[in-house]
Amino acid sequence: MTVRCFEHAFGQSWLARRPLYANDPLQAWDAADELLLQTLQQTSPQPPARVLVINDAFGALAVAVPAGQRFSWSDSITAQLALRDNLARNDQAAAVTWIPATEAPTVPPAAVLWRIPKSIALLQQQLARLSPLLTPGTIVLAGGMDKHLPARLHELLAPLGSLERLPGRKKAHVYRVQVDPARAHPAEPVTAPLRVPEYDLALQGDANIFSRGQLDIGARFFLGQFPGLPPASRIADLGCGNGVLGIVAQRQQPAAAVAFFDDSFQAVACAEQNYDSNIGPRSGPAPAFVVDDGLSHYEGAPFDLVLCNPPFHQGHQVGDQIARQLFRQARATLAIGGELWVVGNRHLGYHIALRRLFGNCRTVAGNPKFVVLAARREARVRRG
Ligand SMILES: C[S@@+](CC[C@H](N)C(=O)[O-])C[C@H]1O[C@@H](n2cnc3c(N)ncnc32)[C@H](O)[C@@H]1O
Repeated sequence: MTVRCFEHAFGQSWLARRPLYANDPLQAWDAADELLLQTLQQTSPQPPARVLVINDAFGALAVAVPAGQRFSWSDSITAQLALRDNLARNDQAAAVTWIPATEAPTVPPAAVLWRIPKSIALLQQQLARLSPLLTPGTIVLAGGMDKHLPARLHELLAPLGSLERLPGRKKAHVYRVQVDPARAHPAEPVTAPLRVPEYDLALQGDANIFSRGQLDIGARFFLGQFPGLPPASRIADLGCGNGVLGIVAQRQQPAAAVAFFDDSFQAVACAEQNYDSNIGPRSGPAPAFVVDDGLSHYEGAPFDLVLCNPPFHQGHQVGDQIARQLFRQARATLAIGGELWVVGNRHLGYHIALRRLFGNCRTVAGNPKFVVLAARREARVRRG
């Protein structure tokens, strides 16, 4: 496990990322976190009464910031679990109020530390939900690494007031928003409808949903292979997003119990809404909708089939660390003889990780861009 010391404007914190790896080369904070904390300290020498932290990946901001009350608002349960663990590492158990992205903060903050999210729709939704809580006296600091900040950030944040770009440091920038008392509160972005006539699906996507408003091309290729799925009593849609894979699997296997898992609170809420509107009431076993870091807390009966279109990044960090975690968890929760079916970009080489983990992996289908792979849990795993 890699716990590192984060030196910041308010002192130091001991932090680890999630998932935990021995010798993890990545740290749980970046220069934008350092700069946000430094700017807050310079702006408000006294600790603010209430600080709202938004999109804090592993708790670096919430753990560091001194405040009467701290709130953390994000769409990732992995972030929530990392925050919990990092608070405990710093002897601060249970001192931050968590707000999932399916909800809005209700208490006006004295200061806001806002990591600009990857999704512009999520940024606009947060802006709309935040605006009614802000006054001209609220300290609003928004920032990120230069390479991740949207080119039209000025335009996006303008509905709140005027924007000052503060001097950058280590390829990060922070913007200070002077809240305009006469502003009109911006409206939330509308949820994006997605029709997939080939599968007779009408789906909705909240602000932070993967491939919102369009069917992912990898998912489309995966769905094309579903007629070959093995029959199953218990199916998991792992990293379910809007729920498209699990919903089609449920249609195909009406007697199966399908469970939907995702890191995103909004994804799981959408999957449930989409399931209800596309499948409706049925006599079979009830579906389950679970927000979790993969299957970290799963204690139910083993699955016969796990379907996964894995993420190939964590926040802005591209890599297969989450995919490999999901594969390990899938193997641990499959029944003997059960199968994990995965779609991925051909170049990602998931077959190597699957073969190492399961001792087998077959290619179900492929095209120049994607492959669908199936790995079977056998009683004994051959490693190598
Ligand atoms: C490539 S998208 C696939 C979404 C959907 N299944 C589809 O095929 O369109 C990957 C999904 O994995 C989710 N995800 C990312 N990290 C995760 C984690 N640690 N545990 C569970 N889900 C995760 C993302 O929120 C996203 O919805």
